[in-house]
Parts: sequence; structure tokens; C-alpha cells
Amino acid sequence: MVGCRPLPPPGGGAGGQRWNLATGKAASALRTFTGRVDSIPHNGRFFAVRELPPGWGVMGGGVSGAVAAGGSGDRLSFPWLGPRIIDSAMSRRTNLALLVLLSVAFTTGWLAFAYGTMAGRWSLIVHAVGGFAILALLPWKSIVARRGLRRSRPGRWASITLALLVVASLLGGLLHSTGLLRWWGAYTAMELHVGAAIAAVPLAIWHVVARQVRPRRFDLSRRNLLRGGALVAAAGAGYAASELAVRMTGLPGAGRRFTGSYEIGSLHPELMPVSSWLFDAVPVIDAEHWRLRLVTSSGTRELTYAALHDFDDRLQCVLDCTGGFWSEQVWSGVLLSRLFGDHSNASSIRVASHTGYDRRFAIDDMPRLLLATGMGGQPLSADHGGPARLVAPDRRGFWWVKWVSSIELDTLPHWWQSPFPLQ
Ligand code: HEM
Ligand code: HEM
Repeated sequence: MVGCRPLPPPGGGAGGQRWNLATGKAASALRTFTGRVDSIPHNGRFFAVRELPPGWGVMGGGVSGAVAAGGSGDRLSFPWLGPRIIDSAMSRRTNLALLVLLSVAFTTGWLAFAYGTMAGRWSLIVHAVGGFAILALLPWKSIVARRGLRRSRPGRWASITLALLVVASLLGGLLHSTGLLRWWGAYTAMELHVGAAIAAVPLAIWHVVARQVRPRRFDLSRRNLLRGGALVAAAGAGYAASELAVRMTGLPGAGRRFTGSYEIGSLHPELMPVSSWLFDAVPVIDAEHWRLRLVTSSGTRELTYAALHDFDDRLQCVLDCTGGFWSEQVWSGVLLSRLFGDHSNASSIRVASHTGYDRRFAIDDMPRLLLATGMGGQPLSADHGGPARLVAPDRRGFWWVKWVSSIELDTLPHWWQSPFPLQ
């Protein structure tokens, strides 16, 4: 039987105590509570009871207590609560706080990916504080989880897998930010961090639905809001201390960019790592036969690789990969504004890859976008996007479409696309 353990008999020793779970203090006056008997009497004397008044509960789930009579399903008056009562409001608080923090961490992580500019730093600060707050809640959550694991319910393995993924993601984030471990085999710590977080999402949704927590009004009590404030303050202090420690000890993390990325191979194209967003493999493209399609409302033009070499526009700018590295290179090719004449009737630019991958930009971005055929004075290699790739200054790497095959101007709004590519 779950949640039942031998307890001192009513009226004897510590058994006379009741504990208010909202305050964690013993109640001074003896009151009678009503609960529904949820499981079979143990030793004829102990019951697990649910449906307690708000704010009351017991370690082990439900309430164990001595009653003279009753059976499973009976409603009965419950005159005594044992000393093992713990703050069940604590579990609810912990779980609800985790729900908020996980959502904050997930949203701010993606926001930081979406913006490659300094504004994204704010998102990452909130993100890191959220992550540290999750870390701070782990001791409480482990009490809740241990209690849950004692009940053999279906889905416990899903909960355990969720726990492993969340811990892996936290660890990946910390290893990346400190620089203690930046690569794990072929993967960066950042890729593991984000990969584990994405894998955790379906399990987290299942967990929250299967292990429902009914929010109660007193969850938003002043005391609880103060607790939340204290948690955020402690997490903020933990994050600040970790950043300070990284700088003082000279760990590699001290040198990362505001996006959290590490510099690799700037102005040394041969050292620049190769990376792709998700599933794109390097295609085999014969530059001789490759054509760039330029599509506008007035028709389609095609340019050869040789024709692109009539241009020599250059930009020195940073490719900041969401995999966690950045590299500054000199990119040469042609500015999009030179490929298109009058584009006053267009609202956006769709840049599509040979692989089907595409990104759409606002038409106002045109003067800043370059179609690069070279990097560091050398023709762009296939793994870096050759024959031609897009250079999109101040945007994260996934906007720098590789193996460009067409550029289309149309009237669709630039936000008419999934915020992140799906391939
Ligand atoms: C960091 C994210 C979380 C992890 C790693 C985690 C992990 C676990 C584990 C391992 C258990 C024990 C096994 C089980 O009962 O299935 C558990 C129980 C539970 N979790 Fe979570 N959980 C997380 C977040 C949440 C959230 C957001 C909620 C609800 C809002 C929640 C509600 C519960 C409940 C109600 C239980 C059962 C406790 C009991 O039976 O006494 N958990 N959790
Ligand atoms: C389970 C959800 C997540 C948790 C708990 C989490 C937690 C963390 C933690 C603890 C750090 C280290 C912070 C530091 O020490 O500076 C971190 C860093 C980071 N996370 Fe997450 N994260 C989650 C999901 C994501 C997602 C989905 C993304 C992106 C889509 C992301 C992007 C980042 C980035 C870019 C950093 C590096 C920040 C820096 O180095 O300054 N995270 N995360």
C-alpha cells in the first residue's frame, strides 16, 4: 500500500501534532479533517487518504493515519494526522516553479538564437538566471521525485528520462558557458545542450499532464511570491558569481561573445569549422553547370558562376553559429542590391538553397546582404556553401543560406516562414 506507514497511535507522543503545510508549523488547535480513504487499511489501522483540505498533506503521498473504521472509498472524518506530514504545498510550489522556469529557459534560449545582436544578450541573461533557478530547485525536486518514484505508476521511466535530459541540458549549458568542455566527439556542448532540451519537450509536456498539479489560490500568496523573488535573487547571484569565477580563473568561457559563442579561426578560413543547421548534407554541385535564378515580378533571369565573378563586393563580418562558435572572415561576391534593379513593389526576399532550405528577409535588408562566392580570397568550398552562399551580417548562422540556387523577390511579408528552419 502506498503512502501508509506505521505511525504512533492517536493522542500518543508526536502523534498528537498536526502540521500546517503552508507554514510548515504545527497547528496549535486540534481540528478534524475529512478525507477520502484511497487505499486499503494497513494493519487494520492505517489508511492512505486523499482529498485533504488545501494546504495539508503527508510525506509518501496522501495521508496516513489511524482510524477506527472505514474501508477503501469511504469518506470519513480524520481525527489525527501523523508527525510525518510535510509541506505538500512545497511540492506544488516546486513543480509549478519548475514549469515556469522551464518555459522561461526554453523561450529565452530560442529568443537568443533568433537575435544575433546585443539585444539577444538580455535574453541570455534571463535564460542563465532561469537555468540557475532550476539548479537551485533540484534539492526540493529530488524530494518530490523520490516520493513519486516510491509509487510504481506507469510512466515513471518517462519521468526518469526527462530528469536525465534536463540534467544533460543543464550540464551542457554550464560546460559550454564555462568553456570546461566545448566539444564532445563531433558535437559541441551547445549542440548537446539544445538537443537535450528539445528532446525533453515532449516528455515534459507528458509529465505535466500525467502528474497534474492543480494550482491553488494560495500558491500566489504574498509569502510564495516572496519565496519566488528570493529564488530568482539567489539564482541571479549564482549566475553572477559563476561569470565572475570564470573571468577570475581565466577559463575559456571568459572570452565568449555576447551570444555565448567562442571565436575560432577568424581570418583563417582553413580553420573555420563546418556546420549546418539540422539535416542538410553537403550536396555535389558542379559550378560550371550551376545557375543562380533571380526571380522578380517581371520574370526570371539566370546567372552563371562565371558571371558572378564580374563582381567583387567585399564584406568582413562575423558568422556566429548557433552551434556555439563564431568566426570573422572576408567574404567576396556580389551585394544583392546590385543584382536587382527596381524592387519597389516587393516586400521580401526569399533565398533558397539547392537542398530546399530557405530563409526570407525583409526587403529593407537588401543593401546588407551579400551573395558570397569567396572567403578569404579563395573560392568558397562546398562544405562552406559553395558555389555561393548568403552572407547576412548580424544574423545567426542559420540565416546564411548555403548552396544558394535562387533568390526571389515577392510580396509576401518577411515573417511568412517558420521562425527557425525545419531542415
Ligand atoms: C525539471 C523538470 C522535471 C523533472 C526532471 C521531473 C522529474 C520527476 C520525477 C523523476 C518524478 C518521479 C517519477 C514520477 O512520479 O513519475 C516526478 C514526479 C512528479 N512530478 Fe516532476 N519533474 C519535473 C517537472 C515537473 C513539473 C513542471 C511538474 C508539474 C507542474 C511536475 C510534477 C510532478 C508530480 C506531481 C510528481 C509526482 C509526485 C508524487 O507522486 O508525490 N514535475 N518528477
Ligand atoms: C531545458 C531547457 C534549458 C535549460 C534548463 C537551459 C539552461 C542553461 C544554462 C544553465 C546555461 C548556462 C548559463 C551560464 O552559465 O551562462 C545555458 C546556456 C545557454 N543556453 Fe540554455 N537552457 C535550456 C534550453 C536552451 C535552448 C532551447 C536554447 C536555444 C535554443 C538554449 C541556448 C543557450 C545558449 C546560447 C547558452 C549560452 C549562454 C552563454 O554562454 O552566455 N538553451 N542554458
